[in-house]
Amino acid sequence: MRVTAVLLAAGQGTRMKSNLPKVLHPVTGKPMIWHALTAISQSTTEKPIVVVGHGADAVTKYLGDSAHPVLQEPQLGTGHAVMQAESLLKGKTDLVVVCYSDMPLLRGETLQKLVETQMNNKGPISMLTVVADDPHGFGRIIRKADGTVEAIVEEYVATPEQLRVKELNVGGYCFDANWLWDALHRIPKNPKKGEYYLTDTVELAAKDGLSVQATVMDDVEETIGINTRVHLAEVETAMRRRINEQHMLNGVTMVDPASTYIEASVSIGRDTVIMPNTYLHGKTEIGEDNVIGPNSIIHDSKIGSHCKVLASVMESAVLEDYVDMGPFARLRKGAHLGSHVHMGNFGEVKDSHLADGVKMGHFSYIGNAQIGANTNIGAGTITCNYDGEKKHATEIGEDVFIGSDTMLVAPLKIGAGARTGAGSVVTKNVPEDTLVVGVPARAIKKLERKVKNGK
Ligand code: UD1
Ligand code: CA
Repeated sequence: MRVTAVLLAAGQGTRMKSNLPKVLHPVTGKPMIWHALTAISQSTTEKPIVVVGHGADAVTKYLGDSAHPVLQEPQLGTGHAVMQAESLLKGKTDLVVVCYSDMPLLRGETLQKLVETQMNNKGPISMLTVVADDPHGFGRIIRKADGTVEAIVEEYVATPEQLRVKELNVGGYCFDANWLWDALHRIPKNPKKGEYYLTDTVELAAKDGLSVQATVMDDVEETIGINTRVHLAEVETAMRRRINEQHMLNGVTMVDPASTYIEASVSIGRDTVIMPNTYLHGKTEIGEDNVIGPNSIIHDSKIGSHCKVLASVMESAVLEDYVDMGPFARLRKGAHLGSHVHMGNFGEVKDSHLADGVKMGHFSYIGNAQIGANTNIGAGTITCNYDGEKKHATEIGEDVFIGSDTMLVAPLKIGAGARTGAGSVVTKNVPEDTLVVGVPARAIKKLERKVKNGK
């Protein structure tokens, strides 16, 4: 059976008071509409249709290949919005799932059940409802004495008696496609606003004596729609809790979930401990048995296992296993730390590879460099990689000892086993096993290497 989703995203979102279209506002790092598309993908078989209008260009650009955008112009209500999908979908799908794209907490499982309900429904509509104490802004579900659904009445046209109804329209429907296309043309124009309400299809079905299946959801939180930035913050908190709970159930320890900020796209291995005030963003992958935080911010990075990242920042960086980092270390784009690397306070690494066992304890900048295994980078070492126009590379071999406060003026190669004296300014390549000192540094003697290849 072919099942296609139509997501409505053409409305203005006036109350957000934003230049950004409402559905592109992020929730735990992903635009609202990403959450809707992700949830819907579990229960549909075809590429979804997104009805765009306000901010159509930005929304269409964001969607890229993930959905077919359809323009609704002007926006004459939710029924009119679904009508825009008719020419694309007629004859090409058996069921149509309609959702509003400002409800990012709605779960894929909920929509899946909705679709299953419709598959077993002899009538043309299945829909989601919720019973809530604060019905403000929602359409009311009107049932007959025998329980069958008769209509959805929008708040501003409801009678005082209808306003007291606590069963509300969530905004998730599954329709029999053939019936839907015909019914949309039968929706009366709303006299007050001149709009066509999708919700009126319920009354059309009921009047034809066809069954409307309304499933009452248990989880009220899932139904929160975002109209203002106050709702946005509420949903963010709820989504964060949901993400954190999932990680905890998968074996991750969180000392204080309320101050742990993990985006939807992050993966974490078991027995890793996330300490408070830690932010994990983007495509970050973390292995097992690490301690991350407190106070760490990690974007789009990969961390192996058994690492410590204390009060540090990582952006597009890689840590292998047993790396010990921080406090106050910063890894920028292209930093790659091998296993057992120790990186202490106030260091910065960018576009560089530190091979296994490198020690870089204090106050250093390493940029555009390759550093061999078990080399020691003394306090205050700097790769002078930029001459004002270009970046230059530094290559340091294995088992090198860079003395404190050494300036490495790139391009530069330092052979394995070499040493630099404290405060030296190295401007020329240094051969293997050679000690250089001074400004500019000169070779003073050949060294006997004690440790070879870290053994
Ligand atoms: C709608 C429902 C209401 C339900 C509530 C749940 C209707 C008529 N009413 O009311 O029963 O309780 O949602 O939150 O459907 N949109 C378009 N084109 C339009 C108008 C709206 O694409 O011409 C989109 C909006 O971008 C939004 C969604 O449809 O994503 C819902 O529209 P909105 O105006 O927010 O409807 P509500 O008044 O909240
Ligand atoms: Ca709404």
